[in-house]
Parts: sequence; C-alpha cells; structure tokens
Amino acid sequence: MEEAPGIAAARRVIPIAAADVGTAYGMKPGSYNAALTEVGAGTPMGELLRRYWHPIGLASDASDVPRKVRVLGEDLILFRDRAGRPGLVHPNCAHRGSSLYYGKVEERGIRCCYHGWLFDVEGRCVEQPCEPELGRARDKIRQPWYPVQELYGMVWAYLGPPDKKPVLPRYEALEQFDEGEFLEADDASIGGGGPPIIPCNWLQHYENLVDPFHVVVLHSTFSGTQFVEEMALLPKVTWDTVELGVRTTSIREMPDGKIFRRISQAGIPTLRIIPSPRVGKFGRVESLGWILPIDDHHFRVYVAGRVSERGALAKMRSRPDGKRLWEDLSEAEHQRYPGDYEAMVSQGPIARHSQEHLATTDRGIVMLRRFLQQQVARVQAGEDPVGVSFDPEAKPVAFDAGNFLEGR
Ligand code: FES
Ligand SMILES: [Fe+2]
Repeated sequence: MEEAPGIAAARRVIPIAAADVGTAYGMKPGSYNAALTEVGAGTPMGELLRRYWHPIGLASDASDVPRKVRVLGEDLILFRDRAGRPGLVHPNCAHRGSSLYYGKVEERGIRCCYHGWLFDVEGRCVEQPCEPELGRARDKIRQPWYPVQELYGMVWAYLGPPDKKPVLPRYEALEQFDEGEFLEADDASIGGGGPPIIPCNWLQHYENLVDPFHVVVLHSTFSGTQFVEEMALLPKVTWDTVELGVRTTSIREMPDGKIFRRISQAGIPTLRIIPSPRVGKFGRVESLGWILPIDDHHFRVYVAGRVSERGALAKMRSRPDGKRLWEDLSEAEHQRYPGDYEAMVSQGPIARHSQEHLATTDRGIVMLRRFLQQQVARVQAGEDPVGVSFDPEAKPVAFDAGNFLEGR
C-alpha cells in the first residue's frame, strides 16, 4: 500500500535516529538525596528532626488503651496512666520482650501482660510481681521511653539526645484569639489532599508548601476549582529565606484592581504555616500544621488552629471534585480530579531527585533544600539548629503569614 504523500515527506525530513532521541530505553533508576529525606535514628535528617518536639497524637489518643504509634521510623506505645500522665515507651518489655501494646494501664503506669512488670510513664520499673519482694533490683531496670508533653490539644514527643532537649515552643497564632475564637486540633492530615496517612516521603509535602504555582494548575484549572476562584489567577511570587524557614509571598491582582497578598511559610522543623486557601477569609494565619514523618515512606499532618465553630478544621479537608472528600471518590474519579495526594504520592515513595528538571518556579524548593542542608550541617558540626530554645520563658513564636487584601 502506498503511503500518503505527507507521511512520506515527513520520513524524509525527520531522520529516524533524531526522532528517537530521549526514549526511555536504558533509563537509570534514579536516586534521591538521602540526607534530606531519610528520618531514621543516626541519619543526617533523622538527627536534625530529633532536635525538635513533634506532635505524635491528639490528646485523646493517649488513653488507658495502649496505642501503637510510629514516629521517625520508630515503633512506640502511647498511653495515659490512670493518674492522667501521658507516656511513650518502646514496645518491647524490658523483661523478655512482649509488647506493651497488650499491657494494662494502671494508676502508676503500664503493666506487661506476660509476667506483670509495671513501668511508669518515664520507664521506671515499679513492680515485678513474680520476683521476691516485688523485685529487689527492679530500680535497675528502665523501659526505654521518651519525654512527652501536652499542648494545643496534642501530645508532643522529643526523640532526641536528652542533654539537648529544648523547651516545647509556643506559637502566637495559637494563643492570640480574636472575638469568639477557640482552639481545635485535627489529625486528618489537612492539606495532604487524601487520607490521614500518606504513603510517600515527608519532604514531598514540605516542598509542596513553597510551590505556589501548583495552586494555579492542580487546584484551580486542571480539574475545576478546589479552593476559591481567586487562586486561579497566576501570582507574582517571591521567596525569601527567613530565620525559621522559607517564606513565600504570592501577589495577585484582582479583577477589581485590589491586591491579594498571600504569605505562607515552610517552617523548621516540619511546619506548615499556610493561611486557608479555601474560605476566602482575610487576615493572619489561623492554623499551623506539623508534618510528622512516620518513616521514610509515610507521613501524616497534625493541625491546630483558631476556629469560631466546632468542627471548622475538619471542614478544611480537601474536596478534590469541589464537593466530596477524597475517600468518597473512586479510582477513576481520583484520576479525573487529582489533588495534592495524587501529585505527591505519584512522585514515588521518595521522589527521585536525580531525574528532576527544576525550573524558575522551583526557586522556593531549591531554597528550602539549601536551608535544610544548612541545618543538617549545623547539627553535624555539634551546633544547635535554628528554632530550638532552652529558655522556659521564651516568647511564643510569631509568623507574618496570612491572606491580605489591599486596596489601590
Ligand atoms: S516480658 Fe514483660 S513482664 Fe515478662
Ligand atoms: Fe496543594
């Protein structure tokens, strides 16, 4: 059969070799920057993150039912003794290793199911019921434990070197209330765009915070309006490295000539300082989120915020099609209405940095990676990273983030 004349002409113009440049044949698997992504004990980022407190559960998660939690690659058991003190311990009993997940919570601590050793919230062994005199040498035993504190409706843990334990920071955004506001906490990974536990590396979400251009495409024009219509306007963006992270300023000129200035920040160690993109509300940032790296391939987000009606934080969860929650959409609908979850998880369990092609709009990402690298280097040099304070009187940390509307 004769080829159409157009195709025959094209074959003459494009030599086969040139047309086939860039095929996937022989492609390398790609690699990632381990020093910025891996969170286990002894890794560069794992040691940086271990210099800060992290929320590991809602206050209600610490109860008389032992709860499994996984934090920075470590499996732990969270509980609350019957005197009301939260405790966080290594799961395997110091006696012969049965898990305290099956333990019984009592007034003085948690009792192992196997031979009944009782440990208090700081891991002290206070009773060995089968031993003479309830254990003559029991005070030599310590169940490995971590310090915890409660604040803003959440339980916070410090998994780092004991002699470097900073004070648990407080935040102005969660302490200065406007009329009628009160505090709420949420563990549904608001901002993650999917279910509470998100199966990819935490850095993919942290970088998402300094990427305002995806708001215009992914959330505003690709499959409809996921936030508010103003977000579809292409902003003028500047980034700057500030003391506690990387700040993004997005300026949008509104149809009525007013200027919409949106300031957000990725803060050390894993802070989301993101004014709501949904409610069209103007003013200072109303909520803060902490990305908790569960391990190298999973994270979740805890959020605390000022609200004026109960359940308001939960209403901030993504609705990929503008109407329904992520879990109410089918696979075909997820493909049709991708959001942050699909964009981040599909980058891979850990994004392959060696295969990226960063462009001008990725400047914030580059700055954030550099900022983290500097903090990793400080810890490796024996210094304290930024944002840790040892002063119990330290003032609440303040940010200038918010959605601001300016007249002309
Ligand atoms: S293994 Fe826990 S008391 Fe024996
Ligand atoms: Fe997003």
